[in-house]
Amino acid sequence: MYLSEETISEIRAKASISEVIGHYIPVFKKGRNYVAKCPFHDDHDPSLSISEDKQIYKCFVCGEGGNVFTFVERYKDVSFIEAVKEVADIIGYPLDLKIEKKAPKPLKYQRYYDLLSEVIKFSSYLLFAKGGQKALAYLEGRGLSKEVIEYFDIGYNPLRNVMREYLKKLGYSDEEMIKTNVVRLNQRGEYDDVFYGRILFPIHDENAHAIAFSGREIDGQGPKYVNTSETLIYKKGDVLYNLHRAKSAIKRAKRVIVAEGVMDVIAFKRADIDFVVATLGTALTLNQIELLKGLNARVVFSYDGDKAGQNATMKALELCLDNKVEAFVLKNNSGLDPDEIINKGKEKNLRDLLSNEVSCIEFALDYYEGVYPLRSYDNRVRYDEKISSLIAKLANEEDRLNFLHELNAKTHLRFREELIKPVSNRGQIVYNREEVSFLDGVSKAQAYIILMMLKSKRAFEIYREELGYLLEEPFKELALLISEAYRSNRELSLADILDHLDKRWQSIFTSLALDDELNEYSDEKLNDYIATIKRSIMQNRVIELKKLIKDNTGINDEALMKYSKELLDIMRKLGGSK
Ligand code: UTP
Ligand code: MN
Repeated sequence: MYLSEETISEIRAKASISEVIGHYIPVFKKGRNYVAKCPFHDDHDPSLSISEDKQIYKCFVCGEGGNVFTFVERYKDVSFIEAVKEVADIIGYPLDLKIEKKAPKPLKYQRYYDLLSEVIKFSSYLLFAKGGQKALAYLEGRGLSKEVIEYFDIGYNPLRNVMREYLKKLGYSDEEMIKTNVVRLNQRGEYDDVFYGRILFPIHDENAHAIAFSGREIDGQGPKYVNTSETLIYKKGDVLYNLHRAKSAIKRAKRVIVAEGVMDVIAFKRADIDFVVATLGTALTLNQIELLKGLNARVVFSYDGDKAGQNATMKALELCLDNKVEAFVLKNNSGLDPDEIINKGKEKNLRDLLSNEVSCIEFALDYYEGVYPLRSYDNRVRYDEKISSLIAKLANEEDRLNFLHELNAKTHLRFREELIKPVSNRGQIVYNREEVSFLDGVSKAQAYIILMMLKSKRAFEIYREELGYLLEEPFKELALLISEAYRSNRELSLADILDHLDKRWQSIFTSLALDDELNEYSDEKLNDYIATIKRSIMQNRVIELKKLIKDNTGINDEALMKYSKELLDIMRKLGGSK
């Protein structure tokens, strides 16, 4: 599912934070603001304060803080997008997700879909025609029956220009063929069919529109597969190969197998396993995870059994965990991909693979043992940190407990019982000290400059004149966001920028923001903060210069003089400003 940044800001602007929080827990008015018992730690007095002006909440005991979305995310333990949806519901903001997702495509691009359907029809015909013998023999040699070939709409394009000629006769223009990447201009300025000499595997979107091809070479020339480059209708990270065919089987099986390649999907189908999709060799993307989530089925990866495949599996599992999908893996130590398995042995081996399913943590326990062999204490510590950070992301308390026991049996390190508690109470462990007091002066100055720029355009203008950049993340990114907003005449609030920060920085910024005295805008205060930062830049340059002068290898006397002079200048300025 996709929500535009605009929609999200609009919902945030329309929502009243005390009303949204009041939807879940009792809130009480106190002066201009509201308070509530903090749901993120075991609270007896109302220590959560809610600021309507600033549209943020903050607990001064456990440090939790954020905007409306953060609250719902943590309180209900849902993803950001789910939190946005929920807030939209509460405030009665109409969110027609289906329309938002697919609105412009169908009519606008129907002609492109039709064009690609014609390519499928004609290339299927060509595969079984006389010029297709070599290709057909290749496919049969790889064990594909006529039925399977037809099921997947596989085709062949034997010549440099057949497809273009054919499409021309049907009334399609060169421009349309170029736009769909069926035809391209070669270096001599002539038109070529993109997939000539290749077997064509059509790629569809989930609504069964033909949108692209994966083309395999059969005579050892050029890259093994060439895929349609990105077009108006094909964004490779948005697609799962075969999803439109597999959907109903996925519903029945309540399971979806995610493979790497076209030939793997076909291999499973040959063994009568038809709830399989593929990422087509690219790393799993967030959009693909959203597609998978929408299926309401258990997600099971079956990438290649080689090292690269196993690495990609671990990456995909972690991305899934971060997005609230606890995925599984078909355990495959064979070094082979599913297609090779079916061709080496029998169907049975592929069916066996299917019954060999492990959960993401089980996979991680094995995988990271390879990365951190557990013989040394150092490795055990790192292993423990890695695995426990993954366990912490599991939704089920019992699972967390069980896997912590398994982890402990391997490392014999301290048992991390703090990770067993429910997610929403766990914020406390990290934040039971006030993070702000750990910030150094330079970081604080940068944070206050950000807050002032949010409040006043004049602050932004002075900053741009006098400084123009900040020194470290997350301030750098925030400063860019703010200047972008001013440039396009948009207003940004503190509540807006919180979505760009991690939990720790959300906590820090909400604390600072509520301290009105310090971030209230005045030229004088702003200039103080700017001076602090300039001083820090100079101090860093001093360290750099001293180092350059000390190990003066490879610099000539002239440069040495220059550095010494610069150093003296800076020292003088620093002395003067103290
Ligand atoms: P693989 O290299 O695992 O191919 O790439 P495969 O599925 O085993 O193919 P065969 O069995 O040799 O025919 C997996 C996927 O990565 C993409 C393709 O989509 C392929 O299906 N790929 C691979 C490319 O896009 N380009 C390449 O050069 C190779
Ligand atoms: Mn293969």
